[in-house]
Amino acid sequence: MNLSQYTDGFFKVNATHGFLPCQPPLAKLPKRYNSLQRLLDDLPRITNDQKEGLLSVEGALESRVSQLDDFSETVKKETDPFVLQALFRGYAFITSAYTLAPAHFEFLKTGNYGKAHRYVPAHLAIPFCWVARQLEVFPWLDYHYAYSLGNYVKKNPKGGFNWENLDMAVKFSGMPDERGFIMLHVDINQHSPKLVEGVLNTLQELPQNKVSLITKNLMLCRLTMEKVNARRKVMWEASRWKHYNDFRVFIMGIKGNEEIFDEGVFYQGVFDTPKQYRGQTGAQDNIIPMMDIFTGVIRHYPKNELTKYLMDLRSYRPTCIQRFLKDLRLEVEGLHDEGVLGMLVKQKNVAGMIELAGILQEIYFFRNGHWQFVQKYIMQNTAYSKATGGTPIISWIPNQIRSVLNALQSCLNQIPEETSDELYLQIKTKFSDKVRLLDKQLNMLHQPNYKAEEVFDLNKKMNLADDE
Ligand code: HEM
Repeated sequence: MNLSQYTDGFFKVNATHGFLPCQPPLAKLPKRYNSLQRLLDDLPRITNDQKEGLLSVEGALESRVSQLDDFSETVKKETDPFVLQALFRGYAFITSAYTLAPAHFEFLKTGNYGKAHRYVPAHLAIPFCWVARQLEVFPWLDYHYAYSLGNYVKKNPKGGFNWENLDMAVKFSGMPDERGFIMLHVDINQHSPKLVEGVLNTLQELPQNKVSLITKNLMLCRLTMEKVNARRKVMWEASRWKHYNDFRVFIMGIKGNEEIFDEGVFYQGVFDTPKQYRGQTGAQDNIIPMMDIFTGVIRHYPKNELTKYLMDLRSYRPTCIQRFLKDLRLEVEGLHDEGVLGMLVKQKNVAGMIELAGILQEIYFFRNGHWQFVQKYIMQNTAYSKATGGTPIISWIPNQIRSVLNALQSCLNQIPEETSDELYLQIKTKFSDKVRLLDKQLNMLHQPNYKAEEVFDLNKKMNLADDE
C-alpha cells in the first residue's frame, strides 16, 4: 500500500501518526473570525471562566446566532487544511447546538427530547456547507474533524495523549464528564500508530512467508490492542455514567432520529430539500474497523439491516481514511481466499494463528466492554431507543459481538487441539463463557420489561465485567 495517498494535509495515516492529526489542531480560529470564536467560547453550558454560557439560558443561543457575522465570502479564501478543519469544527458545533437547543431544554424540563429546530440560517449554512465540501464530508458534527480527534488541545504541550492532559477546543457542556468522555477517544488513538505498523508489516511479510517476522508483528498488534483496551476501560472514571445526558443530546444525528428531527433539516440558502445525516459516534473511529478488516471479522458480519448501518457509518470519515480502509480490504482479500487466517494455515504458522486468536479476543474485549458502556451510560440512563449515530441501541452492538465470536471460533478451529501454548489454552477455555453471556443477555432483552441493570449485572456473574 502506498501510504503517501492517505492524507488530506490534516490526517496522515501511517506508523507515525496512526489516525491522529499529523499536527495538533488549532485551539482557536484565526483573528479574522473573532466574532465566530467569541460565540464558540460563550457556547458551553459552563464556559472556561466558569460562567453560565449560551446553552444554559433558553433562547440565548438563537438570539446570539441571529447577530453573527456572515463569513460566507471569507471562508472561500481559505486553503490551509488546519484552518478549514477548525472552521468546520466551529460551524458544526454551532449548527448542532442551534438545532438541538430546544431538545436540550425540553430534556431538562421533562426528561424527554423535544423537537429540534429544523433549519440552519443561511449565514451559518452557506459557510458551513462550503467548508464541508472542501473537506469532502457531510455538513454535520462528525468524529474526526469536529468533536473528537480534531478537537484536542494539550494542556502541557510537551505532555502526552493521556486524557488528563487533553482539553477540548470547543465544548457543549463544558463539564468534566464531557471532556473525559471525548478526550478518552483521542487518548485511545495514541496507540493507533503501532497498530497501523503491525497491520501493514504483517500484510507485507505474509506473501514472503517470513514466519518469525509475521508472528512478531501479529504479536505487536495483540499487545497494542491490549493497551487500547486498558485505556478504553479508563472511561468508567474519565466520564461518570450518570452524567452522560449532560451533553449527549448535542451529538445526536438527524438520520435515524426522526422523533427529534422529523424528515430532516433545511440548510437555508444551500439545499431546497431537508437533509439527514448520522450523528457523532465512536462508530466513526477507525481502530475497530481496521482490525475487523485485517483479522477477517468482516467475513462474519451477517447480511442484515444492522450490518447496513455499519457500512453506512463507514462513509462518515475523511475520504483519505475511507480510501485507506478500502485499500486495506483489497490487500487482505488479495492474500488468499481466507485472508490472513488462510495464509497462516497455508504456511502452518501455529504461533501466528495463536497471535491472531489473541487479537480477536482483544477485539471481543473491546466490543464487550463497550457493550457494557452502552448498557450503563445509555440503557440505564434513558428509554430513548436510538443511539446518536441513529442505530437501534439494544440490537446493533450485539450484532458485531456475534461476528467477532464467530471469527474467533473459526480461528480456534484451525489450531491443532494438542497445542499446549498458554495463551491458546486460556482463549480456548474461556470461549464458551463469552458465547453464553451474549446468548443470555439477548434472551433477557427479548423480554418485554427487561431491566438494563440485570443485563449489566450478568457480566459480573459470568466474570466478564469490564469495570474491574
Ligand atoms: C461511554 C462511552 C461510550 C458509549 C456510551 C458508546 C456508545 C456507542 C453506541 C450507542 C454505539 C452505536 C452506534 C451509534 O451511535 O449509533 C457505538 C458504536 C461504536 N463505538 Fe462507542 N461508545 C462509547 C465509547 C467508545 C469509545 C471510547 C470508542 C473507541 C474509541 C468507541 C467506538 C465505537 C465503535 C467502533 C462503534 C461501532 C460498533 C462496532 O463496530 O461494533 N465507543 N458506541
